[in-house]
Amino acid sequence: MDKAFITGITGQDGSYLADLLLAEGLEVHGLIRRKASASNWRINHLAGHERMHLVNGDLLDVSSLTRSLQEIRPKYVFNLAAQSFVPFSWEAPEATSSVTAIGVLNMLEAVRMVDKDIRFYQASSSEMFGKVRETPQQLTTPFYPRSPYGVSKVFGHWMTINYRESYDMFACSGILFNHESERRGLEFVTRKVTWAAANIKRGKMDSVSLGNLDAKRDWGYAPDYVDAMWRMLNQDEPQDYVIATGEQSSVQELCQAAFEAVDLNYEDHVKLDPRFLRPAEVNTLLGDISEAGKGLDWKPQTSFAQMITKMVEADLHRVDNNISWET
Ligand code: NAP
Ligand code: GDD
Repeated sequence: MDKAFITGITGQDGSYLADLLLAEGLEVHGLIRRKASASNWRINHLAGHERMHLVNGDLLDVSSLTRSLQEIRPKYVFNLAAQSFVPFSWEAPEATSSVTAIGVLNMLEAVRMVDKDIRFYQASSSEMFGKVRETPQQLTTPFYPRSPYGVSKVFGHWMTINYRESYDMFACSGILFNHESERRGLEFVTRKVTWAAANIKRGKMDSVSLGNLDAKRDWGYAPDYVDAMWRMLNQDEPQDYVIATGEQSSVQELCQAAFEAVDLNYEDHVKLDPRFLRPAEVNTLLGDISEAGKGLDWKPQTSFAQMITKMVEADLHRVDNNISWET
């Protein structure tokens, strides 16, 4: 039975990837770091699954990574762990760089030392394009990161390519544009807005405070995107891809869609608060998915409108049943 090792399994993407790989018949091992309070809500439904295992360690501790790989001997490693919230990367740039940049190097070194035949996936990001040099963005578009997070992702991206070219490793990097879901963290703008729309509809909140409503993103649905990761590690040759929808919406259009889903007008409930503006903004992101179509036979299955409707419905269900946002 093929085995996969996932870092970041408690995160949005790690949890959907675990669902997918278990459905594909793999044995799944997820790296868990020690926390005062467990944050396993996205994978609680997998507890007790006979092919699902959790292993203690940390991306910052290379000995825990090599030990895990030696014990598990996986065929696939998906490196999804990161400090992934862009605003926090200005508040803690060194910690962000440690996990999001050096953590990638740690994982690559562990793979190189234990088994160079492991197929390795790195979670790269459209934040690397930052102040975009061309539109739409493709694999050859120059990077111009605009945050410590974006700079760290550029390091991880190039380190992955460097290990592929230096050591002949099957190492791939997926440049994924923003992707969201019912399991998205509350600090990200889509979930912040769908959670607010549900609570305002039920009279539990009056308003939501946001920053830049003009920013545009190419927003897709996370379950569609983990399928692209899996396809990337099953190619004949390692190759990087841009994964996106090829369509963009503004934060204002996001608000409109989420509040319309509960028959409300966003203009009555959205407030502007400069605390949510960033020291440097990424104004626009739009991905070119032609290569992913050709090389991976992949295309997004869920539209932006469908995704926002699903997220609002899930949040209404939580509010109506007094369930916490992280359930
Ligand atoms: P997420 O929900 O924030 O999950 C991040 C994961 O990383 C969590 O499981 C977290 O564990 C883990 N982690 C953080 N520091 C760690 C450490 N030192 N050791 C081990 N694990 C650690 O992120 P996501 O949205 O699923 O994204 C997955 C990956 O894709 C990230 O690398 C992100 O930067 C990248 N990405 C995301 C998007 C997007 O739109 N979602 C787009 C492009 C790229 P805890 O639960 O313990 O905190
Ligand atoms: N979070 C947040 N909160 N964002 C806001 C708010 C707010 O109150 N108001 C406006 N925005 C704008 C941000 O300024 C940004 O332009 C946009 O909404 C999206 O913000 P986020 O949802 O926080 O995502 P992100 O684009 O910064 O980063 C996400 O996508 C990247 C891929 O491009 C994260 O998932 C990163 O980890 C990922 O790499």
